[in-house]
Amino acid sequence: MASRPPMALVLAAFLLLVEWGSAAAAAAAAGEETCSGIVPMKERGTAMSVEDFGGVGDGRTLNTAAFEKAVAEIERRGVAGGTLYVPPGVWLTGVFNLTSHMTLFLARGAVIKATQDTSSWPLIDALPSYGRGRELPGGRYMSLIHGNGIHDVIITGENGTIDGQGEVWWNMWRQRTLPFTRPNILELMHSKDIIISNVVFQNSPFWNIHPVYCSNVVVRNVTVLAPYDSPNTDGIDPDSSLNVCIEDCYISTGDDLVAVKSGWDEYGMAYARPSSGITIRRLTGSSPFAGIAVGSETSGGVENVLVESIHIYNTGIGIHIKTNSGRGGYIRNITVSGVNLSNVRKALRIAGDVGDHPDDMYNPNALPIVNGLTIKDVWGVDIQQPGSIDGIKNSPFTGVCLSNVKLNGDGTREVPWKCADVSGGALGVQPSPCTELTSISGLSFCTNAI
Ligand SMILES: *[C@@H]1O[C@H](CO)[C@@H](O)[C@H](O)[C@H]1NC(C)=O
Ligand SMILES: *[C@@H]1O[C@H](CO)[C@@H](O)[C@H](O)[C@H]1NC(C)=O
Ligand SMILES: *[C@@H]1O[C@H](CO)[C@@H](O)[C@H](O)[C@H]1NC(C)=O
Ligand SMILES: *[C@@H]1O[C@H](CO)[C@@H](O)[C@H](O)[C@H]1NC(C)=O
Ligand SMILES: *[C@@H]1O[C@H](CO)[C@@H](O)[C@H](O)[C@H]1NC(C)=O
Repeated sequence: MASRPPMALVLAAFLLLVEWGSAAAAAAAAGEETCSGIVPMKERGTAMSVEDFGGVGDGRTLNTAAFEKAVAEIERRGVAGGTLYVPPGVWLTGVFNLTSHMTLFLARGAVIKATQDTSSWPLIDALPSYGRGRELPGGRYMSLIHGNGIHDVIITGENGTIDGQGEVWWNMWRQRTLPFTRPNILELMHSKDIIISNVVFQNSPFWNIHPVYCSNVVVRNVTVLAPYDSPNTDGIDPDSSLNVCIEDCYISTGDDLVAVKSGWDEYGMAYARPSSGITIRRLTGSSPFAGIAVGSETSGGVENVLVESIHIYNTGIGIHIKTNSGRGGYIRNITVSGVNLSNVRKALRIAGDVGDHPDDMYNPNALPIVNGLTIKDVWGVDIQQPGSIDGIKNSPFTGVCLSNVKLNGDGTREVPWKCADVSGGALGVQPSPCTELTSISGLSFCTNAI
């Protein structure tokens, strides 16, 4: 194994720091807010190439063992850690684990490609907060790139690609021949201090990026792509995680672009791990489902979410906050500010009757609490329906404020808002808001909330 890294590796690591530094400086100079500072970018001692471990980037050779050996070598180095450099080429691989103090660096033109031999994919246990696989009972397939109980991890590069080659899985889903729940491209469990930047994720079999039971996660300047008709290919799903910062991303997939979650019905309530401190900023993209979603799995609670400067086009629902009876948990203190929508079926949907149940052991009387949602500065063109807010009869949604929400129809007909079991206020909303939000007390509530 080569002990001296090629000059290109040293240079790449250096450029990475310079780029991160200048990007942060540029953001500061432009007066742009950023939360990416929650995990500082750092350089690692030595870089080594996957080629040093027998890897071949010809698109045919299976490189699982090379990735595993490289990760084992970084793990052996302890806190010194190391950078695993993936050179230009197509690197076919089965699943592999990451380790702490590791940088995975994808050069420009590097593609890590998932094997299509689905029978070789290992199964892992269901998440305790879901009680079973999200799609099917039992365990689930491990993510292509996996981390459990790790910290100080960076996945970055020069716009290299991680390709899940999901088509074979989507077809199994379509033909109902899936034995277990499909894998994510990247899942990090019980991990902290993570940066994912300057890479492309594409064609995930299922959700693309899934941090669960994590804290301090930055996803920045990342592209996530999957065909419009690919099933359940959510972009980024922060799940039962604290302090997640998603900024400057382009996401265009077959399901929700970002969905904040925290577990499923009785399992999520028992595990009781909320998502909190979630920032989603400067996101652009399109989806047949939602641009930004909270839910529907929110049984551990979701709070303190800030969404701002979002551009969503050719999409089903702009902002979708969704839960269900039986979910329990809460959704509170959510602020959405600065959203441009174009060609969107429904701008806003807040609903208490969305999503299925893991089994019939859920408690139908476990009602979620939804309180404190501020949606402001939303502009829409070609909007078919402004939106609907459907609370739960025995647990009405409270403290919902819509402010400066201007939605132009698609020119066919004016469709009104639809509301039930909700209280709050509205200020400068067009078309005119539903009467549930137009009381005088609602107006003063909303004035104070913004
Ligand atoms: C990867 O990590 C999982 C636990 O998260 C473990 O079960 C598995 O054995 C690990 N695989 C390798 C190759 O180390
Ligand atoms: C975003 O990533 C690309 C490569 O994917 C890089 O060229 C660019 O400098 C990055 N921008 C920022 C602001 O980091
Ligand atoms: C990175 O790759 C994506 C997908 O191919 C592309 O859309 C984007 O423009 C690239 N970004 C840079 C900075 O090269
Ligand atoms: C509400 O969430 C925001 C983040 O959007 C946070 O800054 C603020 O402290 C939270 N408020 C409360 C009362 O927790
Ligand atoms: C939204 O559109 C307005 C007017 O065209 C523009 O000034 C603003 O930068 C846009 N914001 C986003 C997040 O796209």
